[in-house]
This record gives sequence, structure tokens and C-alpha cells, in this order.
Amino acid sequence: MAKVKTAFFCSSCGYESPKWLGKCPGCGSWNTMVEELLQPKSPPLAGVAKAARKPVQLGRDTVQDVPRIQLPGVELNRVLGGGLMPGAVTLIGGEPGIGKSTLMLQVALDSQRKVLYVSGEESEMQIQQRAKRIGIHNEQCYILAETLTQNILEVCEEMQPEVVIIDSVQTLHSRLIESSAGSVSQIRQCTAELIAIAKELDLPLFLVGHITKDGNIAGPKVLEHMVDTVLQFEGDRHFVYRMLRSVKNRFGSTHELGIFEMTPGGLREVHNPSEILIGQHDDGLSGTTVAATVEGARPLLIEVQALVSTAAFGTPQRSATGFDTRRLNMLLAVLEKRCGFKLAMKDVFVNIAGGLRVEDPALDLAIVAAVLSSNSNIEVPRKICFAAEVGLTGEVRTVSRLDQRIAEAGKLGFEQIIVSRHHKATLAKTNIQVVEVGRVDEVFRLLFG
Ligand code: TYD
Ligand code: MG
Repeated sequence: MAKVKTAFFCSSCGYESPKWLGKCPGCGSWNTMVEELLQPKSPPLAGVAKAARKPVQLGRDTVQDVPRIQLPGVELNRVLGGGLMPGAVTLIGGEPGIGKSTLMLQVALDSQRKVLYVSGEESEMQIQQRAKRIGIHNEQCYILAETLTQNILEVCEEMQPEVVIIDSVQTLHSRLIESSAGSVSQIRQCTAELIAIAKELDLPLFLVGHITKDGNIAGPKVLEHMVDTVLQFEGDRHFVYRMLRSVKNRFGSTHELGIFEMTPGGLREVHNPSEILIGQHDDGLSGTTVAATVEGARPLLIEVQALVSTAAFGTPQRSATGFDTRRLNMLLAVLEKRCGFKLAMKDVFVNIAGGLRVEDPALDLAIVAAVLSSNSNIEVPRKICFAAEVGLTGEVRTVSRLDQRIAEAGKLGFEQIIVSRHHKATLAKTNIQVVEVGRVDEVFRLLFG
């Protein structure tokens, strides 16, 4: 019997080594090398056309513009860069339970095209029940509960669907590889087989992939470079809002963002996120401010809440939901050291409304204002919003796309926006008063006298 060959792969970056190593030379992580069976002589990928191709001159009309396939709704099309390209392979990553299957089933039902939805996780029965909850009927939506790639490829060739959805890559397995489903080599092989068929049949393909706690798709990062587009579906499972971000896109920009709301009847698009994220509380409450942030290319006004109270135990607690705790600690240190606010013995809690996670430095000033407001128990007037970064010396720094932020705040009826003195915005005709500040203590005097 032929000797079975194995190799070691890093489960975090996919690095291959003939022997076991404690530390992966590829990504430097420890204890991530796992043994995988190697296929003795891997047969060519199913159905790949290997005919020699001729180079084409760039800019000549020989390369025609391919029309994009419009999916239902505007959010998903926007994130994809204006629609789905024929033959494009899109990976949708997200934590379990975030709503990936729901999103994909809605695409399948709503598009009124011939769609093949392959599920390795749920039975036909379960999917049918979910479809009933979503309440859309599509005669041309076919469900297939299958995990063997060779069978899926066969069905694709026979059925010629317009869109294929695979839920999820972790459940697939290929006959060509012996290791178990979900292992690095299985995921890599199955994806390669599916990509080959997608390119050959010009078939747009969606792959659903679970991400691990540290944010890697399928554990290994191996999938990200194989596919054309990587979308990340994120949000807090306990809140209703979900964000769909594009992390990589060969056919569009990666600055796009789609916002959805999870309802009992499936996902609903949110076209006016700012209006929902602000204005959910009464006047007269301290510790609440509004930040004019930009997510991707989209202005988003969000509410920031802070609670400052005397520490009940010896060590004060600092906790942030939707915001980096280290950054919060830095802002508190700046307030303590540069501006003389005594916060060292206080518990500080910060919360971004709606369970969203925002990584925009423009949140800084709104957070600082919310903390100071809660600390002094004086409310910040509802008609003021903030858009500036705070530096280590307590200086207020300018942020990108300020014009866009000011315009959005004006549109939503804010009367004042507090920004850095050093901005380069053009400030063309706005009905909102732009207040410029240089340092954090100026903001305190401005707001609380
Ligand atoms: P699901 O799409 O199964 O998540 P994933 O595929 O990412 O693991 O969605 C999971 C959650 O969505 C589930 O906890 C219930 C909720 N949900 C709704 O609130 N409304 C609905 O109409 C559907 C279908 C699901
Ligand atoms: Mg699922």
C-alpha cells in the first residue's frame, strides 16, 4: 500500500511545512500547526479549461463591459460595488447566529432568479420554515441539502442556476481529500473546486463562512485570497442592527457599508440609519452626546452614552461597548493629566447606541464630552454634535470627510457641530453652525461654562 503522506499546516495562516513546528514561520503564532493528509497526486481541478489564452491589449474594445446582476434591495448591491459580477465568488463571513443564512435566503427568495441554495447545516425542512417566516415566494429557488462538492458541481452543471449560494464552506467536503470537513485542506480544496466551476460557467457564487472569535474566516485566512470579494456581516447578536462591510472587493471599493435590521420577518434594510440611532431618549439627560462619524463612505450620526460614578471597590472599572477600551483609557488619561479632571477613582462606562462597533477616530470628542457631561451631571444640549479626534496632549485634531459629516448633521437638524480648529473643510452653505476648538478644556468651558 502506498504510504500516506501528510504535512503540517498553520490553522491561522495556512503555512505548509513538512514537519511539526511550535511557532509558525508564516504568521508567528504558536501551537497552530495541525497535521493534514496530503493527496498523493492531486488530480486537476474539476472542469478547469486549460486551453492557452492570448494576451489582450488593455483599453481595446475587445474586452467588453459585463453587465452586473442586480440583487434585490440597495444595500447588498452597494456593498458589492454596484451589483453582482457574473462568475464572481463572494465570501460572507460572520459570527454564528448573526444572520448570514437569513441574508442569503432572502437574496435567494427575493431575486426572482433561478437560485440554488446549498445548505450543509440545515435540512430542507428547516430552510422551508425559515422561508415561510421571511414570507417571500420564489418558484425558481431550489434548496439542496448536500455537503459533497462533487455532487454540488454535478447539480450546478445539470441545473444551470443563475446564482449559487453555499451555506457554509465549513461543512463541505471533497472526495479528493481525506481529512475531515472544516479542516484547512478540506476548505481550501472545496473552495478551489467551487471557484473553478463558478469561473467556467460564469456563475456568481456566494460562500458563507463562520468566523472565529478573533475574526478569522474559517480559522485559516486561506479563503480570503482565493475569492473575489470578502464581505463581513457584523453586529451584536443581542441588538437588531447588522452591518455588512466589504473587506476585499475586486470589482468595487472596500469603503461601502450596508445596514440591516433583524426583524421577526427577516432582515430589513435601513436607509436612514442616523435617524434611528439618535433620538431614542428624552431631553435633560446627562452623559449623552452625538458623534458625526463616517463608516466607509457613509456618514452616520450615532449616539454615545457615558456613565461616570464613584468606584464602589478599590480598583475603578472602565468598560466600553462598541468602542475600544484601550482608547477609552487613553482619553481618560488625557482628561486627567492634561485637563485636570479627577477621574482616577471613578468607574467609567461607555456605550455606543444600537450595538454597533465603530472605529472612527471622530468619536473621541463625543466620548470625552459624554464623560464630562456625566461627571458634572450637566446635559449637553440635544442640538450639538461632535466630529474630532483627541490627541495625547489634549489637542483636538481634525478628521477626514468633514464636509460630509457637517452636511449630514445639518440635514438631521443639528444646530451646532464642534470640530477641530485645524480642519480643511470648505464649509459651503450649511445651515449648521460650525464651532472650532483647539483643546479639550475649551470644549468643557464651551459646554458647561
Ligand atoms: P441565521 O441566519 O441562522 O444566522 P447565521 O447563519 O449567521 O448563523 O440567523 C440567526 C438569528 O436570526 C436567529 O437567532 C434568529 C434570528 N432571526 C430573526 O430574528 N428573524 C428571522 O426572520 C430569521 C429568519 C431569523
Ligand atoms: Mg447559518
